[in-house]
Amino acid sequence: MNSAADNTPEYVRRNKANWDDRAAAHAASPNYQVKAFVDDPSHLSHVVRFDMPLLGSIDGLRGVHLQCHIGTDTLSLARLGAQMTGLDFSPQSLIEARKLAEATGTSIDFVEGDVYAAANLLGSDAFDFVFTGVGALCWLPSIRQWAQVVSDLLRPGGRLFIREGHPMLWAIDEARTDGIVVDYAYFETEQPLVDEDAGTYVSTDVQFRENITMTWNHGIGEIVTALSEAGLQVTGLVEHQSVPWEAIPGQMVEGDDGEWRLRERPERLACTYTLQAVKQKQG
Ligand SMILES: C[S@@+](CC[C@H](N)C(=O)[O-])C[C@H]1O[C@@H](n2cnc3c(N)ncnc32)[C@H](O)[C@@H]1O
Repeated sequence: MNSAADNTPEYVRRNKANWDDRAAAHAASPNYQVKAFVDDPSHLSHVVRFDMPLLGSIDGLRGVHLQCHIGTDTLSLARLGAQMTGLDFSPQSLIEARKLAEATGTSIDFVEGDVYAAANLLGSDAFDFVFTGVGALCWLPSIRQWAQVVSDLLRPGGRLFIREGHPMLWAIDEARTDGIVVDYAYFETEQPLVDEDAGTYVSTDVQFRENITMTWNHGIGEIVTALSEAGLQVTGLVEHQSVPWEAIPGQMVEGDDGEWRLRERPERLACTYTLQAVKQKQG
């Protein structure tokens, strides 16, 4: 129950409860491959392996992974030589992330907190790069506020690297099986999309109790503009026809690379994008 004195926004309470409820099931599911990380010190997450050609060398850099969840991508970045901090507002996710870091003997600083408070919690100008993975921005109501946090966290000359679900994909009604139907907002809206879903995106038999989510979309133009206004210059924007899971069930096919594309004419839909931006030096 939310006490009268607790002015935490409803979306934070709802979404945190939803993620807390799912963290242990995610860590136990085959999809996140926790055992492979422990058994094989060179194992990397699918997401980070996909990112590597555009990411380049991060050896020796100070990185922060925003919305790190159970830390599999954070650990993968640490295995590529970066000195990593992971931030997430879900304490249950961080319990799993810390267990994984300990089981693999990896030094990673996991910090509990809201993305919007990240610079206050972790320091300004403190990182060489900010990393964010697929399925993160939709939990945030304001892309401008997020962009300012990214800018605050980075040292001048530091880099943002994000691969994210494309706003065009988020606008598709994934329950329709009769074609690609745009039914949700593409642009950022004041009101969230409120959804109730008893499942999750991994294979699990666990029954969940916290099933409400509150999410927002952010158009590509809104994201690029927000970064520019926060003092970052976009240095790369690549749209991909693929996504790491079957985002539109029944209409996608998995490739040899473990990514999913539309079965018919995949060139119709951008499913994810990789955006890079550099914080401008003042002067
Ligand atoms: C899909 S997961 C992160 C994606 C990551 N690629 C993964 O699969 O490990 C989304 C994460 O965002 C976190 N999150 C959502 N809203 C947040 C907020 N306002 N502040 C901090 N973390 C948040 C959730 O707790 C969850 O761990």
